[in-house]
Amino acid sequence: MSCIVVYLSKHRGNTKKIAQVIAEELKCEAKSADEVKPGELDQYDIIGIGSGIYAFRMDGRLKKLLKGLKDPKSKGIFLFSTSADPDGTKYHKGMKKFVEKLGLKLLGEFNCQGLYEMWFFGKKSWNHGRPNEDDLKKAREFASSIVPSSR
Ligand SMILES: Cc1cc2nc3c(=O)[nH]c(=O)nc-3n(C[C@H](O)[C@H](O)[C@H](O)COP(=O)(O)O)c2cc1C
Repeated sequence: MSCIVVYLSKHRGNTKKIAQVIAEELKCEAKSADEVKPGELDQYDIIGIGSGIYAFRMDGRLKKLLKGLKDPKSKGIFLFSTSADPDGTKYHKGMKKFVEKLGLKLLGEFNCQGLYEMWFFGKKSWNHGRPNEDDLKKAREFASSIVPSSR
């Protein structure tokens, strides 16, 4: 099974860290969505899509890449994200609906907390050190549970 991990991680690189350990576990490439060329995703059986949660949703630019797939029904997909909220998978709802409508098979979802720094109304920050080693371990376990042949 060929796979690729595609991410957008514009705040503090939190989701990129998760993308990298998932890709390592699956022995595949992790690429920022900005580097993915049109048509490039058609060659993979499994696509992992991840971003930070921004204003209650995953980054909508990821949808554009998936829209261009020639044969979405032949592919599996998994979603991952980092968020300020400890219960971030609830923000996958829109993306989940979108991929299911395209006909992609949803294989699983992963979320963990990530550092969030806010600069308006004075500097405030949450979730220092996240994702941490435990988050990365859980992301690895997630990867090997959805694609068991990667072990
Ligand atoms: C503009 C902006 C909006 C955000 N909105 C949310 C949100 O609605 N819910 C949430 O849980 N976290 C929110 N966050 C926190 C990010 O999801 C969190 O910091 C995440 O780890 C960022 O990932 P990244 O470093 O990969 O971009 C927001 C962060 C930014 C910068």
